[in-house]
Amino acid sequence: MVTTSTPHINPKGVDIAETILLPGDPLRAKFIAETYLDDIRCFNEVRNILGFTGTYRGRPVSVMGTGMGIPSISLYSYELIHFFGVKNLIRVGTCGAMQANMNLYDVVIAQGASTNSNYLHQFNLPGFWAPLSSYRLLEQAKRIADNRSQRTHVGNVLSSDLFYGADPDAMTKWMKMGILAVEMESAGLFANAAAAGVDALGIFTVSDHLITNAETTAAERQTAFTAMIEIALELV
Ligand code: HPA
Repeated sequence: MVTTSTPHINPKGVDIAETILLPGDPLRAKFIAETYLDDIRCFNEVRNILGFTGTYRGRPVSVMGTGMGIPSISLYSYELIHFFGVKNLIRVGTCGAMQANMNLYDVVIAQGASTNSNYLHQFNLPGFWAPLSSYRLLEQAKRIADNRSQRTHVGNVLSSDLFYGADPDAMTKWMKMGILAVEMESAGLFANAAAAGVDALGIFTVSDHLITNAETTAAERQTAFTAMIEIALELV
C-alpha cells in the first residue's frame, strides 16, 4: 500500500502520518511543524513543497504545503491518500469573507465547498454532486472551537479557480446563495477524499472581507492563524 516515492513526494523513508494538516504555503507548514510539533522530520522537499512528520501531545501528525488552487491540492492529496495511506486531511488556510455578519480573524469551518472549477466533471456523475467535508471531523472541530469560545461560521465556502475574475457580478451571485467565504482548494480536496472513502475538512481564518474590503496585515495573520491551527491539531 505505502509507496516509497511519487512524482511529487519523496519521503526518503520518513513516515507520513494518517492525519495531515495542509496549509497552502510550504513555509507555513514548516512554521506549524517547528512551533507545534515534537520530534519533527522533513518528509518532502520536492519543488520546495515542504512536508514534516512529528508528534502533537504524543500522537503522530504530518503537515505539508499544497500550493494554491484545485489542481495543486488535488495532486498532492491524491498521492497522500492513494500512495501513502493518509486518512484524515485537514486543510488550514485563509479565506475572503462574503457575508456581512463576518469579521476579520473569524474562523470558518467548511461544511461544503461549491466551485466554479471543472474538477468534478471527471467523476462523470449524472447530475451535480455537492462536495462536503467529513461530518465526523466537522462536528469535532466545531465542538473544539466552541470550548475555546472561538467565533466560528460553519457552512458552504466557494473554492474558486479565479483570484482575479473578469465578471464583476459573480461574487454577488454566490453571496446570495449563502456562500460564507472564498478560498481556492477545498472542493478538490473534498472530492478526492470522498472518492477514496477518507475524511477531509477545511478550517480557515478570515484574512480579507469582500464586502467591507477590510484586510489583515501579514503580522496580524500570523497571530490569528494560531486559533485555527490549534483547533486542527486538537482534532488529531
Ligand atoms: N480569494 C480567494 N482566495 C482567498 C481570498 C480571496 O479573496 N482570501 C484568502 N484566500
